[in-house]
Amino acid sequence: MSHITRRELLLGSSATVLAATAGAFIADRALASAHSLTLSPLDHSILPDTVTRGMMSFAADGPPPVLRFKQGEAVAIDVANKLDEASVVHWHGLRIPNGMDGVPYLTQYPIEAGERFRYEFTPPDAGTFWYHPHCNTLEQMARGLTGVLIVEEPEDPGFDSDLPLNIRDFRLGGDGQFISLFKARSAARGGTLGTVSTVNWKVAPDFDLQAGSLVRLRLAVTDVTRVGRYEIEGADAMVIAVDSNPLPVPMPAREIELSPGQRADVALRVPDNEEDAVRLVLKRKFDERVIAHFRPIGVSVNRDLRELQRLRANPVPVPDLNNAEVMEFVFGWSPEGDAPQASICGTLGYTFWSINRKAWQGDVPGPLDPLATLKLGKTYVLRLRNETPNDHPIHLHGVSFQLLRSNKRKLVPLVTDTALLQSQETMDVALVADNPGDWAFHCHVIEHQKTGLAGFLRIED
Ligand code: C2O
Ligand code: CU
Ligand code: CU
Repeated sequence: MSHITRRELLLGSSATVLAATAGAFIADRALASAHSLTLSPLDHSILPDTVTRGMMSFAADGPPPVLRFKQGEAVAIDVANKLDEASVVHWHGLRIPNGMDGVPYLTQYPIEAGERFRYEFTPPDAGTFWYHPHCNTLEQMARGLTGVLIVEEPEDPGFDSDLPLNIRDFRLGGDGQFISLFKARSAARGGTLGTVSTVNWKVAPDFDLQAGSLVRLRLAVTDVTRVGRYEIEGADAMVIAVDSNPLPVPMPAREIELSPGQRADVALRVPDNEEDAVRLVLKRKFDERVIAHFRPIGVSVNRDLRELQRLRANPVPVPDLNNAEVMEFVFGWSPEGDAPQASICGTLGYTFWSINRKAWQGDVPGPLDPLATLKLGKTYVLRLRNETPNDHPIHLHGVSFQLLRSNKRKLVPLVTDTALLQSQETMDVALVADNPGDWAFHCHVIEHQKTGLAGFLRIED
């Protein structure tokens, strides 16, 4: 295990990142920093002594690279699709123009096998985000297409290093090969769980960190199904941001509940002594599992968590609650159970779920009707009502929203793009409809999304 230096961490610590970001220089856009991603089939070792066949990545030769952008600076990402099927890339949590959001037919045509597409945008917010396909989404994500995306603040908060953690499962048999990616009876309930937990495509990896240093752990749960609670054991660690937005008051890194699509930034004070190992624990229903180890290395540099700067709030508009319109969205069973329409972005062949009694009919050319139309610039309270006995991480593209209240529990007033709606819960969230376009609105348990629990909101002038 190599010692990770600050520089390597800032670079993303792997050769694939260098290869991916050293892509084509864009001469006609001197201001945009250029990146490239190649959607590729590959075989890769996840379990010891076996090679998993039929994986997919955003790089030809290893796990998806960590993308690093700067807040307020233009980027261009050239995506080449070397899969033998269509795809499209979505930047989860980024509030960017609709045409760059990467949703088939709603915002662009699918990128056919062998074709390319250039995404260009300027990230307005800093924090930990991620990226993934939005076409044949269950299969492509399950096979590996989920990557971490970081937008750095212009000012350095004072960490010694930065460590992205791409947390997800794979559904592998004992021989290391994929087993059925989902089961219909599970898709109609909580979703089909993976069998192997990984961090950065490794099973329980070890990370060597400078003793006594301050490390920014960037947890990104990119799994298709699993809702989990995470805990840092063996060190002082504080959650400083959730879903890219700084917490008003940092919280100890204990029992951090994260559902598919959610992120947490944790400030870790590495212990002083090499024998004091730190663990990242995933707490599941009936057991606990250590999914990563962090080892203090060298002589302590003796940093203190209080030396860190507070993160600045992102420029998300503040809802005007006195002039808000309330809109209700009911998440329930699918009334008819018809099969979804055929699509080049695939279907799972079933319809189990609905929003406002309408099941998403599949990723088809349309024209499609929005669930609701919001007026540009106006504040809305979305009343999210879960009629089902399952939990649903509800995700909205293009705008961030603030959690207001729940009929079941006390909520931290987070600003987020993905909120876990518990079974039978009604939650109010507020947003300013400041970004025009058609924005996907769906459950981030991908089997639920792909069997009806999806739709979109239209924001227009
Ligand atoms: Cu993270 Cu519509 O997706
Ligand atoms: Cu998204
Ligand atoms: Cu769901």
